Amino acid sequence: MVVQVSEPFPHAMMPRANHDELARQNATLGIKLFMTYNVYPGDEVVYEREAKPRFVRTKGRAPKDKNEVRELMLQQPFTQTWSSIARTLQEMLWYNVGECIDRQLPELKEKARDLHKRAKGTLRVNEKMEVPRYLSAVDIHCAPGSYGVDLGDDDVFAGALYDRGAYYYAKGLVGPKNDTTGRGLVFVFKQKYPNFKPKRILDLGCAVGGSTLPWKDAYPDAEVYGIDVGAPLMRYAHARAEALGKKIHYSQQNGEKTDFPDDFFDIVATAGVFHETSHSASRNIMKEVFRVLRPGGISINSDIPHQHYNNIHDQWMLDWDCHYNAEPFWAQWTSMTSKELMGQAGFPANKVWECWRDRDHKGNFFLHDQPKSSPKESNQGGIGKGVFWGVVKPA
Ligand SMILES: C[S@@+](CC[C@H](N)C(=O)[O-])C[C@H]1O[C@@H](n2cnc3c(N)ncnc32)[C@H](O)[C@@H]1O
Repeated sequence: MVVQVSEPFPHAMMPRANHDELARQNATLGIKLFMTYNVYPGDEVVYEREAKPRFVRTKGRAPKDKNEVRELMLQQPFTQTWSSIARTLQEMLWYNVGECIDRQLPELKEKARDLHKRAKGTLRVNEKMEVPRYLSAVDIHCAPGSYGVDLGDDDVFAGALYDRGAYYYAKGLVGPKNDTTGRGLVFVFKQKYPNFKPKRILDLGCAVGGSTLPWKDAYPDAEVYGIDVGAPLMRYAHARAEALGKKIHYSQQNGEKTDFPDDFFDIVATAGVFHETSHSASRNIMKEVFRVLRPGGISINSDIPHQHYNNIHDQWMLDWDCHYNAEPFWAQWTSMTSKELMGQAGFPANKVWECWRDRDHKGNFFLHDQPKSSPKESNQGGIGKGVFWGVVKPA
């Protein structure tokens, strides 16, 4: 299969790579694609043909859960090799993208300041805010500094790293405007609630706004807000939206306890927040969503899929990131249910709907009422998959 690799969406704030930087970034991406299509699927073959039969011969039974599969596969030279390459690729990705941002950081900060001066939207940063420990103690998915690092002097590094890095991380699967997560949510929302006319929308955990801007495009008359934990993320998101002519209100806030009034929003959306957030914080965030939504308002969310429908070998493959890609909350999230999360926050658990998404390299979405049972049935391996869920706050 040939996959077209181009460059991340080239808006005014996007850090640009010079010739050598681009060569390094595309080389990393090329190896990632090669591994995805040609090497990772081999793990199941090794499991089924060698590792599992040997386990059965020795123990008189098959492995019982994903942890036993992991322990077993880690003894396989094949698994040791691909796992080590996968981790190295992740570190190479951030290093390569980071070096090109370091080179142009002063220029990016200046552009952000300039865009801020003539802004249509707003930006609030909170220098006293502490980044929650579950995001600051670990370099989440190996990104240096994680989401909260602030290098001072109107820094935008974390935002630039996320924007350009996401393209390489997701193997180009971010849609033409680096906004696949938001476009996916809007696509599902419009199918579920075609006549809903929101006045205020919040994107909680918005990073650089890839999940925020599609809401503005879909509902141009609505006020659209985005919050996240780091000032550099918010400065970059604000400048990015302004560069694209979108009026968005960004503020640096912890989604567990925001300063928005009760019943303020018609829609609160989250994209990819919970698999990176501790269990107790996830519960707090959803309680906060319940508080700031008006009665009749809608909570809509997307994240990596829960594991309940996968076989135990697929569960081990999908949990790889938790063990080797600095995603400490990933496996806890995949073991939860959305009904449980919503129910504890006050939403009617029995009214929570779920559906599953797949996507392709052109940014097309495919929705399914049932999840595809295994990553290899998905168009692009595990990363192409996602679960959506939502519920109306009772009047
Ligand atoms: C995987 S990123 C997704 C970003 C964005 N929604 C998108 O789809 O591109 C998860 C985001 O959730 C944010 N997040 C996690 N916990 C949060 C919290 N308590 N308050 C605000 N944002 C949070 C992280 O900082 C990060 O930017």
